[in-house]
Amino acid sequence: MSEYRISDERFDEIRKEVLTTWPTGKDVDFNEAVEYQKAIPESKNFALAMHKASQEGKTLCQPRAGVALISEHIKLLQYLENEGEADLLPTTIDAYTRLNRYENAADGIEKSINARTSLLNGFPAVNHGLHGCRMVTEAVRSPIQVRHGTPDARLLAEITLAGGFTSFEGGGISYNIPYAKKVPLQKSIEDWKYVDRLVGRYEENGVHINREPFGPLTGTLVPPCISHVCAIVEGILALRQGVKSITLGYGQGGNLIQDVAAVISLKTLAHEYFKREGFNDYDLTTVFHQWMGGFPSDEAKAFAVITLGATVARLSGADKVIVKTPHEAMGIPTKEANGMGIRCTKQAVSMLRDQHFPVSEEQKFETAQIEKEVRSIMDAIYRLGEGDIEKGVIAAFEAGVIDVPFAPAVCNHGKILPMRDNHGFIRIFNKGNLALSDDIMAYHREKLEERAKAEGRNVCFQMVTDDIYAISKGTLVGRPK
Ligand code: 5AD
Repeated sequence: MSEYRISDERFDEIRKEVLTTWPTGKDVDFNEAVEYQKAIPESKNFALAMHKASQEGKTLCQPRAGVALISEHIKLLQYLENEGEADLLPTTIDAYTRLNRYENAADGIEKSINARTSLLNGFPAVNHGLHGCRMVTEAVRSPIQVRHGTPDARLLAEITLAGGFTSFEGGGISYNIPYAKKVPLQKSIEDWKYVDRLVGRYEENGVHINREPFGPLTGTLVPPCISHVCAIVEGILALRQGVKSITLGYGQGGNLIQDVAAVISLKTLAHEYFKREGFNDYDLTTVFHQWMGGFPSDEAKAFAVITLGATVARLSGADKVIVKTPHEAMGIPTKEANGMGIRCTKQAVSMLRDQHFPVSEEQKFETAQIEKEVRSIMDAIYRLGEGDIEKGVIAAFEAGVIDVPFAPAVCNHGKILPMRDNHGFIRIFNKGNLALSDDIMAYHREKLEERAKAEGRNVCFQMVTDDIYAISKGTLVGRPK
């Protein structure tokens, strides 16, 4: 495995550069950071919290949240853990920081002070530096994670991990393809190897840091096989750099059976491929994202979408659920709305705590179907990489063998078109170059024809558009009026 690892010399060379890209970088001293991390109580360690949840069969609830100023961000997080009843806390990073535009972030901080309200859409952790981050992480009781969308997150990782965060979201695929237009995949994968290696170094020094690839990708009708392949590949890339605690994610699709089958198959498939790559010493957990697409603007209806997501998270046995809020259709929620999303989710999760849903024939079938599709794409990736997953995944995106729907990145083909079948399962209408056999595609086609017949129209692009807006308009399948 060490053949894939960034060497210590190379890592230190890159680190020197990374830490000088913004003045706050110079405060990072790795050995001091290790000592600081070791003094954080175990009850606040994200990796341990995920492990415990999985052992105890719990589904932990976590919101998204971030504002421009340290004091306001602390108040927000304290509200979410006290009044909001969050089990795990986030720090959502602002859009400028995600693009490494720290001057703009500095300007946003300045303007937010004058305006007495946050004018950034998240917490600019790099500008606040490791001391600012430590003020935040020390002010809360719960494990706290960095959540963002940054193709090059090397400096952000250095500062936030030294700043006491114990989990870091993202990956070279999942924080590039859905978030950036022009970043080459090779570059983002390389930069994320650095982040994973940094986490690996903390692990080697006795500090557990959790890593979470971003599961939902574009959050728009993503077939489970596509997000699973990205999650599994990012998991392998992380393990190669010495990451030990990994949480793989999946975004709610909307059909109950498909969603439950997806979470369950994500775990079994990840174990299968991690073992195949020679890894045994890791801790794998799962996260379910409540609906990532368009929300109804009516708050009552939004709560229904949230509750349904909470239900599926629990029935699928996900170890964690990322929560939406009744303000989702409007934009960034108030802390009160955010708290309501968490408490709504917790109520549903708790009521299902001791219940089990029988595994139906349909679920078994769908699980096998997802597994077949994932294996088909993974086989193609291994083939293109001549056995190597990293080389393979870059070639696969180039060839469109793996293709993420509705993504902005030019390194993604964007030929695949998904849509719902008559029961709301996400199926594939146009596969582009996606590595799925004729056999698999015939099944998708059959399912889509069934819907077309029920709606009295042909399988057509209009169905895709109708599906994208359906949930915000009150249904799952976008039927003609
Ligand atoms: N605070 C709360 N939620 C946020 N989101 C993005 N930034 C923030 C923030 N600063 C949420 C959006 C959307 C998801 C992608 O993240 O509302 O639900």
